[in-house]
This record gives sequence, structure tokens and C-alpha cells, in this order.
Amino acid sequence: MFAARAPLRPVRVIVVANEKGGSGKSTVAMHIAVALMKRDQRVAAIDLDTRQKTFTHYIENRRVWAGRSGRDIKTPDLFCLDTPDPSITQDEAAASQSLAVTIDNLAQSHDFVVIDTPGHDSPSMRLAHSLANILITPLNDSFVDLDVLGSFDPDTLDVTDTSHYAQTVQQARQQRQSLGQTPTDWIVMRNRLSMTPTRNKRLVSSGIEELSRRLGFRCIEGLAERVVFREFYLRGLTALDELDEASLGKRPTMSHATARQEVEILLEAMNLNSLVDDGQLSDQLPGQNRDAA
Ligand SMILES: Nc1ncnc2c1ncn2[C@@H]1O[C@H](COP(=O)(O)OP(=O)(O)O)[C@@H](O)[C@H]1O
Ligand SMILES: [Mg+2]
Repeated sequence: MFAARAPLRPVRVIVVANEKGGSGKSTVAMHIAVALMKRDQRVAAIDLDTRQKTFTHYIENRRVWAGRSGRDIKTPDLFCLDTPDPSITQDEAAASQSLAVTIDNLAQSHDFVVIDTPGHDSPSMRLAHSLANILITPLNDSFVDLDVLGSFDPDTLDVTDTSHYAQTVQQARQQRQSLGQTPTDWIVMRNRLSMTPTRNKRLVSSGIEELSRRLGFRCIEGLAERVVFREFYLRGLTALDELDEASLGKRPTMSHATARQEVEILLEAMNLNSLVDDGQLSDQLPGQNRDAA
């Protein structure tokens, strides 16, 4: 007699992306991965930024620190794509293929995959966008950073045009739609917010609201500018970890607690429970055979 086997459900794909360096993608990817692990989810991590490898190094640092400190620090499973040199065109195609196969295989072992991306366009970055259940775009609070999404009239602040990165996301969404897949939930997350109200903060806020109506994303007030979001990189820790005197080298402050709250609010906004099993990955990925798994 054969035991009934629960069908494999596709791994949920969370992509952190913005065609702009320094907007906080790797920092946010790491915090989301750790937050999911703290919710007892099995988390895989993929770093598509094969030059900087910040996400990779962050996770490796965490593993090393867990060993050194003797603490039970959960670490996401890092999957490196087998790509000799992604800057060479033919290797870019191999990178996309490798990404597709890796994600499909994760359905057997993981609940979520968090993908960090480079701040520039590439085939694997585009493929990641078309696989995303949730796309998080961290954005520094400046019109310079908003420029990747749209341009504005300097007097009225009306949106005059949409920009290259917004078009990349639109194309990925259209691709999903044509395959009958659930729409990507696109969340633009403000990062490094100043803690004091400023004219710039207010203007950027109305600019983003205008854009969100035009481009169909949700905007959330994400993370403030806080040392806590960058000071633990060498130990691979995040604002969500046990931050005591031994790991910090100093006493935790109110800022740690508030930082943690900001990440929790981001997780709530992601509505993880609403992600449905729609077989969307298997529709898209080449060469897999789920029944054989
Ligand atoms: N909310 C924040 N507060 C303080 N520093 C931040 C915050 N988010 C990111 N940073 C810092 O900003 C820089 C760029 O962040 P990073 O995550 O590497 O961006 P990206 O991956 O988009 O290039 C890093 O020095 C990082 O530590
Ligand atoms: Mg990065």
C-alpha cells in the first residue's frame, strides 16, 4: 500500500530589488530572512549580486559567529549559483537557468527563498522578478533614489514619466499575468528615514504616493536610519537577534527595540499568510519533475 503524500507546494519567493546600489537591499534581505527563521520557517537565501556578495558574506559571518559564540543562532541556507562569470552574456543565460532550477528544487526543502539582487539589470535579476510572490524595493528617502521609478515636475511634483526599473517590474508582472500566475505584491519600503520631520521627507512621501497610484505598488514607512541596522554585519547578526552585552559589546538601547519593531511591521505588511499555492513556479521553470521528487 502506498502512503498518501502531501503535494509539494512551491517555495514562496521574496525578492529584494531596486536598480540602485546602496538602497539597503542586502540589509533588508538579511533582516527578512532572519525574521522568517524566527517564525520557524525554513529559509533559503540566494545572492544574485555575484560581485559584491554582501548577502553571502552576511550569512557566512553569521555562521562563523554562531560557531565562535557557541550560541544556537539560526542561519538561512545559502545557495550559490553555479555561474562562472555572470558578466559574460552566455554565462548570464546559464545563471538564469541555474536560478530557475535551484528555486524549483527548493520546493522540497524550504518554505521561503529570499533573493538579494544587484543594483543593475541582468537576465537572472529579471527572472527573479518574474518569480516573485513578494517584491520588496527599499528606497532611500531622496528624489535621486526615486528617479529609478519615475520623474517629477519640479514645480507641481506631478509624475511626468515612469523610469527604467519601474518598467522592468511592469514587464515581469505582465509575464506572470500571461502565465495566469498570482500578481506579485510589490512593496516599496522607505529606508534610512530621518527621525525628524523634514520638508524633503514630506515631499518624497507625496512623490511616492503619486507613483504608487501610477505603478500599482504599496508603500510602507520602513526603517529609520539607525546604527543598529549596520553595526552587526561582521557577526552576521541583525536587529532581531538576541542583542545582549556579550554580542553587542555594550548594553542594548531603545533604538534596538524600535529597530526590531520596524522590521516586525515590515513582516506584517508582507501578509505572508495570504500567499497561495498556485503552482506558479512549476509553470515557469524548465526541466523539473515534481512527481519524481
Ligand atoms: N536603515 C538603515 N540604517 C542605517 N544604515 C543602513 C540602513 N539600511 C542600510 N544601511 C547601510 O547602508 C549601506 C548600503 O546598504 P546595503 O544593504 O549594502 O545596500 P544595497 O544592497 O542596496 O547596496 C550599508 O552601509 C548599510 O549598512
Ligand atoms: Mg547589496
